[in-house]
Amino acid sequence: MKAAFIEQYGGPEVLRYGDLPDPVAGPGEVVIDVVAASVNGADWKVRVGQYKQSKFPFALGRDFSGVVSAVGEGVTDLKVGDTVFGVCEAGQEGAYAEKIAVKAAIVAKRPEGLPHVDAAALALTGLTALSAIEDTLKLKPGEKILIQGGAGGVAGFAIQLAKHIGAHVITTTSAANQAYVRGLGADEVIDYNAADFTKAVSGCDAVFDTVGGDVAQKSFAVLKPGGRAAFIASGAQAPKPDRGDVSALRPPVGRARRHLERIAELFEIGAVRAPEIKLYRLSEAADAHRVSEARHFRGKLVFKIR
Ligand SMILES: NC(=O)c1ccc[n+]([C@@H]2O[C@H](COP(=O)([O-])OP(=O)(O)OC[C@H]3O[C@@H](n4cnc5c(N)ncnc54)[C@H](OP(=O)(O)O)[C@@H]3O)[C@@H](O)[C@H]2O)c1
Repeated sequence: MKAAFIEQYGGPEVLRYGDLPDPVAGPGEVVIDVVAASVNGADWKVRVGQYKQSKFPFALGRDFSGVVSAVGEGVTDLKVGDTVFGVCEAGQEGAYAEKIAVKAAIVAKRPEGLPHVDAAALALTGLTALSAIEDTLKLKPGEKILIQGGAGGVAGFAIQLAKHIGAHVITTTSAANQAYVRGLGADEVIDYNAADFTKAVSGCDAVFDTVGGDVAQKSFAVLKPGGRAAFIASGAQAPKPDRGDVSALRPPVGRARRHLERIAELFEIGAVRAPEIKLYRLSEAADAHRVSEARHFRGKLVFKIR
């Protein structure tokens, strides 16, 4: 099969496009013929060696949409021809490929009206936003939330989800992406180049930070006493709050079919739609990584594989 893979850690130039052996479905697994796979921030972190893998070469990529082409022993709830989408198990890479073998239990049926490209774009971003907003922050109707990095993939889903829950949503973005985040439903938008969000925002019940670094650390300032903040771009641990009356949380982002089914349900009831998508071919993986790593694009970058 064709794949975009690495044989060593390094810059975008280490990405190769070529042949890797076809995967086989082990017990409890299905092989999926991948139609679309998305680029996530984790992919270039894997590429540079931040998350080590045991052997080279290996294909990158953590989420996909496609068609089941083989079923392993013991799989009874999926069959060849089912159209599915999903996120690899934690620690597994390999969606930048024509085929991938994954645990059947963490794959979900793709809703008919959701194109493969959109399903791939919503998989890890949606699962992450659900883990943060619903499971970790437990956001409630009427609460005020600041979502940092509104034009990104995870935040774009989170804005729509928070609005669906009935929260008041404030988000940060550069001037070029203000109309985009308003279109996703943000009530208030702060251009982070023109205003200091710690001065423009206060009294929040919750913060969801998808930016990391200083932005993450400074986010505690906008919380009201008892407020809670969730962080996904600060590594495995949430940053330590500089005040004692708020909580800092790290969403677990566990892989589970129920989360994917929740994404499908939210799509079907019209609560979330796919982000803006820029399409790439697998042979252009290095270009896609350069754009992703620069961290100033809108929505998602997606490989259309077949
Ligand atoms: N399992 C997990 O824990 C998990 C899962 C998914 C993602 N993540 C992490 O979450 C982070 C977000 O990922 P993503 O794919 O949604 O987006 P991303 O590609 O990392 O971020 C892109 C967006 O960030 C915005 N941005 C950059 N600097 C900003 C700033 N100072 N303030 C506000 N916005 C800013 C950019 O908008 P502008 O151009 O307008 O600046 C751009 O739209 C990444 O670090 C990723 O690795 C973790």
